[in-house]
Amino acid sequence: MKFSNRIQSMQESPIRKLTPIATEAKKGGKKVYHLNIGQPDIPTPRVFFDAVKNFDEEVLAYAGSEGIPELRNSFSKYYKKYGIDFEVDDILVTNGGSEALLFTLLAICDNGDEILVPEPFYTNYNGFGNTAGIKVVPITTKAEDGFHLPSKEEIEKLVTDKTRAILVSNPSNPTGTVYTMDEMNMLTDIVKEHNLYIIADEVYREFIYDGLEYKSFAQIDDIKDRVIITDSISKRYSACGARIGCIASKNKDLIAQILKLCQSRLCVPTIEQMGAAALVDVQDKYFEDVAEEYKKRRDIVYNSLSKMDGVICEQPHGAFYVVAKLPVENAEDFVVWLLKDFDIDNETVMMAPAEGFYATEGLGRDEVRISYVLKEEDLKKAMKILEKALKVYKNQKQISAL
Ligand SMILES: Cc1ncc(COP(=O)(O)O)c(C=O)c1O
Repeated sequence: MKFSNRIQSMQESPIRKLTPIATEAKKGGKKVYHLNIGQPDIPTPRVFFDAVKNFDEEVLAYAGSEGIPELRNSFSKYYKKYGIDFEVDDILVTNGGSEALLFTLLAICDNGDEILVPEPFYTNYNGFGNTAGIKVVPITTKAEDGFHLPSKEEIEKLVTDKTRAILVSNPSNPTGTVYTMDEMNMLTDIVKEHNLYIIADEVYREFIYDGLEYKSFAQIDDIKDRVIITDSISKRYSACGARIGCIASKNKDLIAQILKLCQSRLCVPTIEQMGAAALVDVQDKYFEDVAEEYKKRRDIVYNSLSKMDGVICEQPHGAFYVVAKLPVENAEDFVVWLLKDFDIDNETVMMAPAEGFYATEGLGRDEVRISYVLKEEDLKKAMKILEKALKVYKNQKQISAL
């Protein structure tokens, strides 16, 4: 039977595709430290579960396609705390940030249109682009520049008459880069001059370290109509399984268009929306503690990687990821080897090969993305395992080359 070209050209998620090999390793009794996936271990605030327990309706009915009023209100209040002026009507609740991204692309792009994205980028942008028939055009950034953006001229060379938007994850998954105000102003100028949207994926807004200040694209006044925020509670409140996110924009016509997509999928789960609405009561202290915890973890991983022979990585300042160049030819082969053939005291590590985070052929082949979402002792052990594994792998390769 035939499959669509669309599905056949879609890549498997590099974050998840090696999971069956990890499952086999675990069945064989190995412990695997999962550095491949951004699944935080921080407890979800109790208010979420309390609100779910208090749900007391006789019928679990469809909610409105735009989201329940309590949750849209809660998002609006949350944004106002950041000085971001989104009213309830500017917000549509979605099934996670994932659906927010897909709906945004479907609403602003036609088949064959293009979006510019700094690479390496969150790998599922490829999947969403593919589903929507859009070409993801990479703005290549480099480890040695801290994955910051190239010049305005370089970026403008990539703009064609098919370009519809620039999509940025800020702070970035997978690089942990936090864009400077100069970079944000440069992107603002480009979208104004070339009549583009800016899709700002700000799901890591709270995860910023080293005293860096955070500014949202939604706070830049003269591009309010062009800015589309895609957001999520997954990382912010360690609530990935709730599948709650939103699209927020001051562009009323755009919101009206996207609502049609929301209507076609009827609604987002009602009970999870009730739980998410309660999260607005979470105090700032929660975010401060969480950021402090991640900073400690970032330091463990970054300091360990910096000391490893042949490993190149820049210190990330946001989110909870780092991209590291390893002294191996093919990072995916190395990760498979780690799972199948290597352990220390029956323990090994799993990372995400970074090639799938690039659109440019051949880039990222010797890189991995590491998520520092495990507790400190586990990260320390995982880093020891990686350090030893790189040495053993190098020796084995040298022997087999003889
Ligand atoms: C940059 C970025 N955007 C969006 C998402 C999607 O998040 P969710 O669909 O869980 O809200 C993720 C998840 O890892 C992400 O890292």
